[in-house]
Amino acid sequence: MSQTIPATLIPGDGIGPEIVDATLAALDALGAPFEWDRQIAGLEGAKAAGDPLPAATLASIRRTRLALKGPLETPSGGGYRSSNVRLREEFKLYANLRPARTIVPGGRYDNIDLVIVRENLEGLYIGHEHYIQIDDDPHAVAMATGINTRQGGRRLLEFAFEHAIATGRKKVTIVHKANIMKALTGIFLETAQQMYEEKYKDRIAMDAVIIDACAMKLVLNPWQFDVLVTTNLFGDILSDLTAGLVGGLGLAPGANIGADAAIFEAVHGSAPDIAGKGLANPTALLLAAAMMLDHCRLPEQATRLRRAIADTLNVDQVRTGDLGGSASTAAFSRALNARIANG
Ligand code: NAI
Repeated sequence: MSQTIPATLIPGDGIGPEIVDATLAALDALGAPFEWDRQIAGLEGAKAAGDPLPAATLASIRRTRLALKGPLETPSGGGYRSSNVRLREEFKLYANLRPARTIVPGGRYDNIDLVIVRENLEGLYIGHEHYIQIDDDPHAVAMATGINTRQGGRRLLEFAFEHAIATGRKKVTIVHKANIMKALTGIFLETAQQMYEEKYKDRIAMDAVIIDACAMKLVLNPWQFDVLVTTNLFGDILSDLTAGLVGGLGLAPGANIGADAAIFEAVHGSAPDIAGKGLANPTALLLAAAMMLDHCRLPEQATRLRRAIADTLNVDQVRTGDLGGSASTAAFSRALNARIANG
């Protein structure tokens, strides 16, 4: 009998439960061996347990070291700190892997196959921010501190190079802004160049590009890139850009990989504008589940899932509204499961 794999499941907020249901149905149809421990976080955690990241959720991930997560709502401006950021810190999820691959041909760009590897723990996302009051304006001045460390850069860059080589990639591009933020992003570029000379120069190509030029080049000719490796904020922004190249957020998966755990999710958020209406595209989370299968060394199931998703979208032409179709989340899920059952 095959062994089960314990994993934490966080349905999340907004469209989370709808896309998680569709993903669980597909994993069941595949016969994926996950044994789910269902937990809460985000807005649901704040409401039901008084904490957007309850202790029971943390304990579950500490035990399973593996999670599939729906989007978690974070208030903008004030309110509680992002549970996503806290999860990354808690489990030292230093690498955020965000592939962008064409699944639906005939869009603005065809045959895109890029990966963004984003540093997930440092930079301007560490939350060292404050306002300074002047006279009666409490928000007269805003300050933020970014921190990048040599050790944090090395850990992420090593992951990126090894991942690129293991998956047969040809080139790693370091994305930075070392011309202006000479220390904060200069340390990342310098560390990359040192590591490349020490360990990788005979194994893969590397170049470097400034973030603003990178954004332009991605729009003009995305095929010149392969693996893009960058610091936290730049990676967050660029990965939405690359999601746009392949048809939008509904198709963009992400993996947070670290020393203590791995958490798989869609790049998009909780989409409160369409939540509860049965309109959400579950494909991004389904593709994240495929990454989770790869991570658990179940590449055959991952391939079957990716193929069934592509066939549902392209052969059966069953698509949700964000892709110009009219299928509901449930109708897409049924069509996908039929594909899995027949594949
Ligand atoms: P969002 O990604 O939730 O939505 C942006 C737009 O894309 C909306 O028009 C939405 O309807 C659409 N969209 C997103 N996912 C879709 C899907 N699967 N199918 C069809 N359409 C989809 O970004 P927004 O509105 O800025 O953020 C909403 C909330 O989500 C915020 O509280 C934010 O903090 C949170 N968030 C959570 C993330 C996570 O848990 N990893 C990531 C990004 C945002």
